[in-house]
Amino acid sequence: MKRSDFPHDFVWGTATAAYQIEGAAAEGGRGESIWDRFAHTSGKVLEGATGDRACDHYHRWSADIALMRRLGMGAYRFSISWSRVLPQGRGYINPRGLDFYDRLTDGLIEAGITPFATLYHWDLPQALQAIGGWAHPDMPLWFADYATTIFDRLGDRIPFWITLNEPWCVAVLGHLTGVHAPGIRDLRQTLMVSKNLLFAHGLAVQRFREITKGAQIGITLNMTAQTPATDREPDIQAALRGDAFNNRWFADPIFRGSWPQALVETLEFPRELEIQPDDWALVQEPIDFLGLNYYTRNIVRDAPDVTPMRIETVRAAGAPHTEMDWEIYPAGLYDLLDDIRTRYDNPPVFITENGAAFPDSIAADGRVHDTDRIEFFKRHFAQAQRFIESGGDLRGYLVWTFMDNFEWAYGYSKKFGLVHMDPTSLTRTPKQSAEWFQRFLEGD
Ligand code: FCB
Repeated sequence: MKRSDFPHDFVWGTATAAYQIEGAAAEGGRGESIWDRFAHTSGKVLEGATGDRACDHYHRWSADIALMRRLGMGAYRFSISWSRVLPQGRGYINPRGLDFYDRLTDGLIEAGITPFATLYHWDLPQALQAIGGWAHPDMPLWFADYATTIFDRLGDRIPFWITLNEPWCVAVLGHLTGVHAPGIRDLRQTLMVSKNLLFAHGLAVQRFREITKGAQIGITLNMTAQTPATDREPDIQAALRGDAFNNRWFADPIFRGSWPQALVETLEFPRELEIQPDDWALVQEPIDFLGLNYYTRNIVRDAPDVTPMRIETVRAAGAPHTEMDWEIYPAGLYDLLDDIRTRYDNPPVFITENGAAFPDSIAADGRVHDTDRIEFFKRHFAQAQRFIESGGDLRGYLVWTFMDNFEWAYGYSKKFGLVHMDPTSLTRTPKQSAEWFQRFLEGD
């Protein structure tokens, strides 16, 4: 497989997120975010790791861009830290925060790297959490105001925008299982949050249309392929519930104007979650592309006692797994792209994340021999190519991630980078996969 097997204008690059790489948590006028608070709460993140310093990208952004350029990357998806720009979440705008993203954007453009900016990658200002966070009915407006501040400053230079990264994770991991910030476990709040996230997204898209010209905006959703554990009817139904829960919860509202029925029935949505006809138009505000994050599949079986979806996942015996214990299942990427095409009328799609954690280390020869990652990407790229060949509208592929970083509740223990990053010395060492990717991009 070669780069030339893809359309000539296909976008290739990597992705990161602010809290995972920036560090400088108390510098430049930045306010506290829910991830600062969560990581500093004992027992929440493995080994007590925090993003206080992370990859120190806040100070090293220029060298990081130079490295991306040297590696031949065409695009870079980063996220903006809301509390760096609006330390209290609303009101006072911190000029140093805006300046940072301004310099980063110009630096990327000068290096010939196309910027993709994500407005929200999970780091809500703590000041907003203190008054209710995503469950607060005014959150959509506050988000839209924050988005407006960013569009005003950068809307003329950044061609691709993403409102929210993985709202499913915000709702479910943040408010149902509590393994992510803000660490809440409450189904009712989860459902309120999911509704507010959809409104926030829609409002930001509306503001975007008023402010920017020529740029594109979308949302990034994580999807997990669903396979029934057996061909028994209860397991087939369980996989459909898993599909509604994991893949359709946010996509159906945005593209079809309705919640997935299996979700509404199984979770017994309360009345206040009903979306009024007028509000559906807001949720369905047309977007330019869908961002898809794909990592793995779930093998699902019926489990009547397991809340909230009455499903359980089964580990695929004998199949290869990554360090996250996620099954390596490239065909799932094709299957989900195909579902998106048929369900939502073939929208333009960018893969905004795909990658794998492996137990990388620097060998005696000074190199990181991550051949498993190279193999992983070859097999996933092939599925993307297969989708394009079948007529699918796939426009780009952003690999997770540029360099090893703060992997949320796993701290620095899970390494997804093409570039090795030593959390102590902060040294960047391109792995063999980075060199392979570079050669792929050069058309070798
Ligand atoms: C995704 C997140 C990203 C990273 C990868 C491994 O869910 O968007 O920040 O943690 O998983």
